[in-house]
Amino acid sequence: MRLPLLVAVCCTVWAFAVRPHCAEAKARHFKWEVSNMFWSPDCEEKVLIGINGQFPGPTIRARAGDTIHVELKNALHTEGVVIHWHGIRQIGTPWADGTAAISQCAINPEETFTYRFVVDKPGTYFYHGHYGMQRAAGLYGSLIVDVAEGEEEPFKYDGELNLLLSDWYHESIHTQMVSLSSKPFRWIGEPQSLLINGRGQFNCSLAAAHTQGAKQCGAVNRQCAPVVLPVQPNKTYRLRVASTTSLASLNLAVGNHKLTVVEADGNYVDPFVVDDIDIYSGDSYSVLLTTNQDPSSNYWVSVGVRGRQPKTPPALAVLNYRPNRASKLPSLAPPVTPAWNDYAHSKNFTYRIRARAGTPPPPATADRRIELLNTQNKMDGHIKWSINNVSMVLPATPYLGSLKLGLKSTLTAARPAETFSRAYDVTRPPANPNTTTGDNVYVLRHNTTVDVVLQNANALARDVSEVHPWHLHGHDFWVLGYGDGAYRGDAADVARLNLRDPPLRNTAVIFPYGWTVLRFVADNPGVWAFHCHIEPHLHMGMGVIFAEAVDRVGKVPKEAVSCGATANALMAGDHL
Ligand code: C2O
Ligand code: CU
Repeated sequence: MRLPLLVAVCCTVWAFAVRPHCAEAKARHFKWEVSNMFWSPDCEEKVLIGINGQFPGPTIRARAGDTIHVELKNALHTEGVVIHWHGIRQIGTPWADGTAAISQCAINPEETFTYRFVVDKPGTYFYHGHYGMQRAAGLYGSLIVDVAEGEEEPFKYDGELNLLLSDWYHESIHTQMVSLSSKPFRWIGEPQSLLINGRGQFNCSLAAAHTQGAKQCGAVNRQCAPVVLPVQPNKTYRLRVASTTSLASLNLAVGNHKLTVVEADGNYVDPFVVDDIDIYSGDSYSVLLTTNQDPSSNYWVSVGVRGRQPKTPPALAVLNYRPNRASKLPSLAPPVTPAWNDYAHSKNFTYRIRARAGTPPPPATADRRIELLNTQNKMDGHIKWSINNVSMVLPATPYLGSLKLGLKSTLTAARPAETFSRAYDVTRPPANPNTTTGDNVYVLRHNTTVDVVLQNANALARDVSEVHPWHLHGHDFWVLGYGDGAYRGDAADVARLNLRDPPLRNTAVIFPYGWTVLRFVADNPGVWAFHCHIEPHLHMGMGVIFAEAVDRVGKVPKEAVSCGATANALMAGDHL
């Protein structure tokens, strides 16, 4: 197995300078091989997608300003692969965003593609597959960016713990993808297990195993061994929590301990104290936890399901106060996470997230408003998710190359709708459930300020409206506000918007039957996906594309676009 090679570009520039620290950014090199392998994430052996023989993939740790080089070899036998660096804005490197059919051609089996990009902002991030449903096959890992050398975080802590949360299905992603697109539709159901750092225990409760001396879950297999978080008493720890779940929305609580939220999606927030946090797929948080409880005991960390009637048991980890043994039974039962449908609790948490003082404020007004109605629909007996009644399908030729070369034939002529009928009743199933497919490409002018209104609605079944966490590539956005029912854009709705201290994020949720308003500045030329981060929903068409000032994109590396119509155009002599 090859180990990541860390090459420090040494600080010659600074050697004679007056600065006491060497603040030179580094280039960090990684050599990765993606392959299928047997693994037992929840003690049941399956085939998943790993990196360098590991699951989850290796953690990337860097400092703000560093350049990451990942030389990615695809060792899958018969499918392409790409990796997306979730939360990294890819300023000036849109071809390194790792979205198949959008920013690049999928890397063929046996081929290698090198991702090169700068991690410009400290924070808690992660990476994952972005081709078909490969994320749900286990292709993910953590990406953590520390402040630049000589700089400090705006809060203090003594140690750090990393929790990468995910959910896990026993069915292969191939079966899942076929199910979701078959006629009649077959829903994939709820995940079998929740995983913490890639480990869970199917059909075995850690808490019960402890108390009843029942079979020790995962005791025999390190791949599914319970996660132990060692801490010293009376210290403050930074818990980095991120979710790359396929379906599940989550809640995390630590027995008897309060959590102070300090970071969301790589942006500092105004600190606030809670008993538990909600984490939707695509979200990341840092919370501070002080080990100020009885040090003779260990404590449970619980992760439970939100927003869907859970059929998946909670995941547990042990907060191990040293020098207690890790196997010492916590004296308290695991904390019970809030009821799955306690949306008041979720809204209360989400609405408390505000930007930390010093965060750039949003422009006071927007140049354009794009209103996106989210509906579940039917199409020739298939079930789809649609945006303004168009379900997104991706083209054979990636957008970045085809738009840069002006191959207009790769885009359908019709521009997607900017709004939807005010007469649409969001409280009922669609009166006409029929939908169609399209490319959903919105063309954004350079440096314009764009507002996006995400409007949730009733799904196909009566009295069902789901939570959807929307994630934007290439940008952070300000979350200006949330509301219930239909967004009217009237004085009352506008009064709900927060222009004073809205948080900057890359993922924002729409609550059932609710709306969310986001604002961002189109200052990063590229082609960016904006989609629901729930893997089956994206697969069923729940997304749009922002093509932003593509004429200003720098020279696209050939390897990113050597497929489909762009490959032909390049052969014919066109220049990128
Ligand atoms: Cu983490 Cu397009 O997603
Ligand atoms: Cu969704």
